[in-house]
Amino acid sequence: VRYGQHHVRIAIRFYPGNFWHITDLHWDPTYNLTDNPELVCASSGTRPAANAGKFGDYACDSPWLLINSSVYAMKNILPDPDFILWTGDDTPHVPNEDLGEEAVLHIISSLTHIINQVFPSGYYTEKLLNRTGFRMLVLNTNLYYDQNKATQDMDDPAGQFSWADQVLTEAVYIIGHVPPGFFEKKRNKPWFMPSFNKLYLDLIQKHHSVILGQFFGHHHTDSFRMFYNSEGSPISTMFLSPGVTPWKTSLPGVTDGANNPGIRVFEYDTQTLLVKDVVTHYLNLTRANAARGRWEKEYRLTESFRVPDASPASMHQALERIASSRCYLQKYYEFNSVSYDLTECNSDCRVDHVCAAREVDFDRYEHCLEKEGTAAIYGVFLPVLSMAVSLVFANW
Ligand SMILES: *[C@@H]1O[C@H](CO)[C@@H](O)[C@H](O)[C@H]1NC(C)=O
Ligand SMILES: *[C@@H]1O[C@H](CO)[C@@H](O)[C@H](O)[C@H]1NC(C)=O
Ligand SMILES: *[C@@H]1O[C@H](CO)[C@@H](O)[C@H](O)[C@H]1NC(C)=O
Ligand SMILES: *[C@@H]1O[C@H](CO)[C@@H](O)[C@H](O)[C@H]1NC(C)=O
Ligand SMILES: [Zn+2]
Repeated sequence: VRYGQHHVRIAIRFYPGNFWHITDLHWDPTYNLTDNPELVCASSGTRPAANAGKFGDYACDSPWLLINSSVYAMKNILPDPDFILWTGDDTPHVPNEDLGEEAVLHIISSLTHIINQVFPSGYYTEKLLNRTGFRMLVLNTNLYYDQNKATQDMDDPAGQFSWADQVLTEAVYIIGHVPPGFFEKKRNKPWFMPSFNKLYLDLIQKHHSVILGQFFGHHHTDSFRMFYNSEGSPISTMFLSPGVTPWKTSLPGVTDGANNPGIRVFEYDTQTLLVKDVVTHYLNLTRANAARGRWEKEYRLTESFRVPDASPASMHQALERIASSRCYLQKYYEFNSVSYDLTECNSDCRVDHVCAAREVDFDRYEHCLEKEGTAAIYGVFLPVLSMAVSLVFANW
């Protein structure tokens, strides 16, 4: 009996660890508070920065004070993480001609410098936790970006897919910047070229048993993507972490696509790499500019979505809640913009978010739009219909 108890206790022990994921810092060195809203920052383009304050403006990329504030907030909240994932996008949203190599290098070195200064020692590891058997797979998904004309005719740019196929033999976290699948704020908007999207899905389906998490950015929003096997069981989750920049996207068709600056902590089991929980912290930019810059906890995944952990099965459960309950949908939607857009997520919005999270595959996404679109119509009419029926019966 003693042996049995001992054995059980060992088996369920959880070895907690945590790490930061930050993404899309997008420093705009031109940010400068002036009386003319057109001249505050280069990254606002032709849009006026109407509410510019010292921490930034929703039309602009990050001023240095916001970058500084986010890195010190990390130090304050969790000073000693196991490591930091930093998935890029450092430069402001300005035309390439206005930037140049020198400016890009200056921006990257300044950001690297402040992160190193606040969190001394290098955190980039190839061996995850410096341990044999664990690995961080850093994919350059810019190679698959549909705007990248240099790779569009290639089967496997830089041989990255065949390389990944070979190294995916031990427990890994995959990190990258541009994610596969669709942007949840704009219907039918993918980033990858179709052939590369398929290859990415094949890679995950083949190696899911050793892929313990995928961590990406690019959207600036807070979302996630589910991966399923051919039987429809959840096998992997890609976490899309929100950006530090509050920059309102200029992508046509997205209305008011800004966000509050967000940073996040992942809690995981250091023995198995299973992701246990996700805690997102944010800066309410409006309030920070008006009063002072105070970073607050926005939410804890397991609390807000009432799931036991952040495993693929739990994330699937969370997604089904979001898909079927107005209350969970709204909660998810507000977190999506890091509590910036608090308007109601209507039925079109629901379909866009649910299908983007559920289907990374292009064809299956299309199918999901049709199915969920129809479900939305029934969702509205079915109660009306059943009420009519019961009225008929009442009058009978
Ligand atoms: C910021 O704007 C002020 C005027 O409001 C100007 O004097 C100053 O040179 C500007 N700074 C930068 C870095 O452009
Ligand atoms: C960065 O933030 C820290 C902590 O709030 C503060 O002490 C420091 O003065 C800031 N530095 C700059 C350049 O704003
Ligand atoms: C990683 O492990 C190697 C060999 O065990 C050791 O020499 C090195 O100092 C370790 N690196 C870190 C950052 O802990
Ligand atoms: C952010 O701050 C503004 C101004 O104080 C406030 O109106 C808004 O409700 C706040 N947002 C959240 C999510 O707390
Ligand atoms: Zn970005």
